[in-house]
Amino acid sequence: MERLKIMLVDDNITNLTMGKSALAPHYDVFTIPSGEKLLKVLERTTADLILLDVEMPEMDGYQVIRILKSSPGTADIPVIFLTARTDMGSELEGLSLGAIDYITKPFSPPLLLKRLEVHLLVEAQRRQLQNYNNNLQCMVEEKTRAVLGLQRAVFDLLSEVVEYRDDVTGGHISRTRKYFLILLNGLAGGRVYASEVASWDFELMVLSSQLHDIGKVAIRDSILQKPGPLTAEEFEEMKKHTVYGPKIIEKIEKNTSERNFISHAKNMAASHHEKWDGSGYPLGLTGLGIPLPGRLMAIVDVYDALISRRPYKEPLGHGQAVNIIRCGSGSHFDPALVEVFLNVAEEIREAAATE
Ligand SMILES: [Fe+2]
Repeated sequence: MERLKIMLVDDNITNLTMGKSALAPHYDVFTIPSGEKLLKVLERTTADLILLDVEMPEMDGYQVIRILKSSPGTADIPVIFLTARTDMGSELEGLSLGAIDYITKPFSPPLLLKRLEVHLLVEAQRRQLQNYNNNLQCMVEEKTRAVLGLQRAVFDLLSEVVEYRDDVTGGHISRTRKYFLILLNGLAGGRVYASEVASWDFELMVLSSQLHDIGKVAIRDSILQKPGPLTAEEFEEMKKHTVYGPKIIEKIEKNTSERNFISHAKNMAASHHEKWDGSGYPLGLTGLGIPLPGRLMAIVDVYDALISRRPYKEPLGHGQAVNIIRCGSGSHFDPALVEVFLNVAEEIREAAATE
């Protein structure tokens, strides 16, 4: 086993010789005649413990320990003061500067050895604990990353299930996800709903937005994939995706502690067809009574529907779609959010063009 390295610092040659003969059978002992020399030696090598004389010419022990403790490379090396002073004030001063012990000279070699042994043991245990804590932290971070990755994968998969079933609106989820992020970024740093938005994790919000139409998995194929406009009755059935959606997400909620994240997804699934003036569905909520994520989703959802081809309609151009949303401000949409949308409309047009 590698021997531990002890640095014995004293300006008195007799003390250095005595100390070395007591410690050398058990440790690698470096005898160093001054604080300056110690600092030089520590530039090249490290120590497991330093025995430091207090009264030395030039730089005394207190000055040396201050320098050692202020440098990251030497701050963790345990220091024991050796001194002829026996007053309590000196002892307290030494300990307050970060020394772990205070041994008065002349010392008894067996006693010095015992005290060193105890301190080195404590130090070894401290390091072990520190390593253990570091490892534990790494393990927790790794687990968190794995859980988040899994969560993302599950949400991606769920949103893909909707896309596969809903041929008619193909690609709607992946496109609205992009527009939603642009709208979120447009909100960030602005004054509109600033405090609410500041508490959001955008990545999780975008993940949540992918589930806004998850309720469609419970809608019959004959309605969901109908290659034409829906009858009034079919439309009533289709509207229920805003009721089924939150129920599906609630099932995930029961099995997870990520309440915040799930609640945004649930809100969006439930309220993305509500309208500012109360004429939307399923509850006919009005104004600020509609959850903010739902009010945001409503804009990108409609924008994408307008610019997309459907079996029963041609796509509108970006400018026409923007106009319709502008006209819906205060009736269909939250006026403050329409303003934000108009600010980022060009960016949304570019994202739509790359589809
Ligand atoms: Fe929807």
